[in-house]
Amino acid sequence: EKGTYPHYMLKEIDEQPAVMRKIVQAYQNEEGELSIAKDTLDAVNAADRIYIIACGTSYHAGLVGKEYLEKTAKIPTEVHVASEFVYNTPLLSEKPLFIFISQSGETADSRAVLVHIKELGHPALTLTNVAGSTLSREANHTLLLHAGPEIAVASTKAYTAQIAVLAILAEAAGKAKGFDMKFDLVQEMGIVANAIQTLTDDKEAFEQIARDFLSTTRNAFFIGRSMDYHVVQEAALKLKEISYIQAEGFAGGELKHGTIALIEDGTPVVALATQENVNLSIRGNVKEVAARGANTCTISMKGLEEEGDSYVIPHVHELLAPLVSVVPTQLIAYYAALHRDCDVDKPRNLAKSVTVE
Ligand code: F6R
Repeated sequence: EKGTYPHYMLKEIDEQPAVMRKIVQAYQNEEGELSIAKDTLDAVNAADRIYIIACGTSYHAGLVGKEYLEKTAKIPTEVHVASEFVYNTPLLSEKPLFIFISQSGETADSRAVLVHIKELGHPALTLTNVAGSTLSREANHTLLLHAGPEIAVASTKAYTAQIAVLAILAEAAGKAKGFDMKFDLVQEMGIVANAIQTLTDDKEAFEQIARDFLSTTRNAFFIGRSMDYHVVQEAALKLKEISYIQAEGFAGGELKHGTIALIEDGTPVVALATQENVNLSIRGNVKEVAARGANTCTISMKGLEEEGDSYVIPHVHELLAPLVSVVPTQLIAYYAALHRDCDVDKPRNLAKSVTVE
């Protein structure tokens, strides 16, 4: 039930702090440590390479998950769009593990890959919000998202839940291999939950940004580098699907290789700046587009902020920044759609779960 909320999407955005806390609880053992079922962990650590398979928003969560699996658990990881993988399967490693990420657990494109790799005899792990869903039943292992039902067509809390579970999986895999953990994930996830809460308590700011940058435009660009590049791809998808504004999310460094030709007077460009090692470079990109007339909106993280930034999100660990920086982009998409009188919860031409290929 959406209760007093005008839309499920807004309710689900607001649920994200609670979902983050619930996930940590669900994966804590009696000693309070994050843990993953032993057979699942063994399957992850037996793999010489992980192939993440997903569609849409879940694919975007996979892009962040790859960073965790490589940086924390040191397992080479590839991320693939399911509909491409099934007809154009890459050369596989000797001992692959497939991780399917699917909110619904019913996505036909992902299932087609699962059927294919099972024929080849490879193991599969499904991350899903729906216990007993097809992708869960047909895989060897399942990790649940614990996000609660997601009703709005535009996925929000499932994206952050997927990233959180992938962070926990990577940490458990790294620990099992005896690697030193660089930070306390339980504590950092608490900081993340509080940071998201700060943002969902500050909705007027994002309504204003949507009004200032997106109320009449026909197109919009999102730019970011490193972890922010993954998030801007999701930001663009969210804006497209509910507000029908043509949007593109791309790597800041790619601007000069083509896209900058599209910048005109007033073109909205939203930049994310949450990563220290690329802060100077993304700032440079913002200046480049501003010099060509773009209407720039920079969302930075505390500690990296500069004068003139449109919004500064609270500081969290850099690797976990996607969990927080995506929230302003969800809210901006929501308000842009509202301002343009779009049906937020049921955008045209879309279904909540896509059970046809
Ligand atoms: C976008 C969105 C879709 C889904 C995609 C995969 O907001 O919801 O892009 O993420 O259709 O769905 P699942 O995760 O159910 O496999």
